[in-house]
Amino acid sequence: MTMTVVPAKLNQSKDKLVLLDQTLLPHEEKFLELDQVEAVWEAIKKLRVRGAPAIGIAAAFGLYVCSLKSSATTVLAFKKEFLASRDYLVTARPTAVNLFWALERMTKRFEEEAEKGVAAIKKALLAESEQILAEDQAMGKAIGAYGLSLLKPGMGLLTHCNAGGIATSGYGTALAPVYLGQESGYNFKVYAGETRPLLQGSRLTAYELNKAGVDVTVICDNMASLVMQEGKIGAVLVGCDRVAANGDTANKIGTSGLAILAREYNIPFYILGPTSTIDLDTPTGADITIELRAPDEIVNGLGKRTAPQGIKAYNPAFDVTEAKYITAIITEKAVVRPPYQENIKALYQ
Ligand code: MRU
Repeated sequence: MTMTVVPAKLNQSKDKLVLLDQTLLPHEEKFLELDQVEAVWEAIKKLRVRGAPAIGIAAAFGLYVCSLKSSATTVLAFKKEFLASRDYLVTARPTAVNLFWALERMTKRFEEEAEKGVAAIKKALLAESEQILAEDQAMGKAIGAYGLSLLKPGMGLLTHCNAGGIATSGYGTALAPVYLGQESGYNFKVYAGETRPLLQGSRLTAYELNKAGVDVTVICDNMASLVMQEGKIGAVLVGCDRVAANGDTANKIGTSGLAILAREYNIPFYILGPTSTIDLDTPTGADITIELRAPDEIVNGLGKRTAPQGIKAYNPAFDVTEAKYITAIITEKAVVRPPYQENIKALYQ
């Protein structure tokens, strides 16, 4: 398979975080090299790097390269700077739990090495961020294999937003079964909802699937009901930004509507994501903070104003799909089916 580019990685000789600037796709593949905490924060906030797992990877490498800038010689002084950078990065976006999860892992690693001195801590932070990347690469393939076992050759698949290689670091989550199927001649026909307002479906999913030679068709978000009614869709595959302990799942705005439609048309609706996106500390979907973004992304986002000056626009970036609409949650460890409360818990036992 044609692997997509890795969206967030480390340039170790330069001690810089390297990010594919996804705001420029599909027109330009440009890589940014960052080592300032403000620039890393801005890249996450502005969606230069986006998709829950990729945000986690970028935050981990970002925190590492920023920590290298420190000239502190005592662990106490170094820790103060490290925690200040961490507490800043954590505010970049509120919904995808992978940001918090990755920064938490880095903090824990710092604490485990604290007695060994500044140089040893820096080395451990590098190892931890590399481990986060390596785990992500492995999880995509595992999710893909579980997902593929639920699909049939030639199927039409509907996806939303982008949960592919550039949202992770390899096969993606929702697109992982598509890539694995492509390697085995499944000939899926993928329908990508364009995903207003920022068009992750048409700009990013269509870009990476097309590059890999997958049959992909872009539809406007409001065409989903029609393509389902026409019998074109055998399954809906989407990613996730946070799965609550009861299975309620936050993903890109528009996802919950697709789940409700899929129920009506008797089409399986699958969430695909790593266990790092499950948050047992979030009891239900009602406890998930939904990011509100600038109204301008809606009325002025396509290079041209699309509503009268001064008009109000409401721009929540995610919604929550209730667990009752989800056929299964496909993780790297297992395919989880209802009842979610107990079956999600069992994943960790
Ligand atoms: O706002 P975005 O582009 O970061 O939203 C991304 C999504 O909603 C993805 O579906 C999700 O993060 C899963 S990525 C494997």
